Amino acid sequence: MKKITKSLFPAAGYGTRFLPATKSIPKEMLPVLDKPLIHYGVEEAINAGLSDVNLIIGRGKGAIEDYFDKNYELETEIAGTPKEKFLNPIRDLIENGIFTFRRQGEMRGLGDAIYKAKSMIGDEPFGVILADDICYTEEDSVMEQMKKVYQKYGVSVVAIMEIPKENSNKYGIIDGTEIEDGIFRVSKMVEKPKPENAPTNLAIIGRYILTPDIFDILEETEAGTGGEIQITDALQKQAENGKVIALKFKGKRFDCGSVEGYIEAINYFYERK
Ligand code: G1P
Repeated sequence: MKKITKSLFPAAGYGTRFLPATKSIPKEMLPVLDKPLIHYGVEEAINAGLSDVNLIIGRGKGAIEDYFDKNYELETEIAGTPKEKFLNPIRDLIENGIFTFRRQGEMRGLGDAIYKAKSMIGDEPFGVILADDICYTEEDSVMEQMKKVYQKYGVSVVAIMEIPKENSNKYGIIDGTEIEDGIFRVSKMVEKPKPENAPTNLAIIGRYILTPDIFDILEETEAGTGGEIQITDALQKQAENGKVIALKFKGKRFDCGSVEGYIEAINYFYERK
């Protein structure tokens, strides 16, 4: 089985829920304490060995590229001062990751953003992290937990959690058979169903391991919910052949794409600082 070394960060969205703040800064650069949101996801990927980091960005997202590059002026100014240590966390990531950026010209949905990475990823399984979702765990990160599941089953893996059913229209929802404690063979996936149409209360969070055949499927996938190309619809094709596993991950997830979840994350991390 191929080792997973590549991660993909779709980071092209407008971040409308944070307007006006996100009018001129990417939502991925909003800080949770002293690190931007994207830092947490990239750290999780690199620590899980997915250090070939690929980012799909859009117009106005240059600050993300700059963050993963040196800033000579600043670094020269603070070299040798007590402030220099504050750069250590990002220096670690820059040292340990290989960063590649590509632009998604038009926003056509998460499935399209992932499809844009086809030439960056090639014929390998890869991890997808939605930086909006910060996951906190005491031990193995969510991506580590998913890698173990991938190594066992060799198919695409999605991370799931239980949600109140009335929130089903915010998530991709799965149905399937529990084959091990917290591990499901997925039979069905629906993007943002109304509560009355949701098959279960098991929602996909922003962590995926995808097998590379997903690119051919995405090529054929038509716009779905919200008029966008949905990764959930492409995964449904794999699920029909028993090729998707869902893992109820251990840990806590914060939806930093919403103001409430973002504040919750800040408070949670601040208490643990
Ligand atoms: C995306 C996916 C959805 C998933 C969610 C997790 O939706 O389309 O299936 O449940 O991420 O955060 P978005 O939040 O980008 O609308």
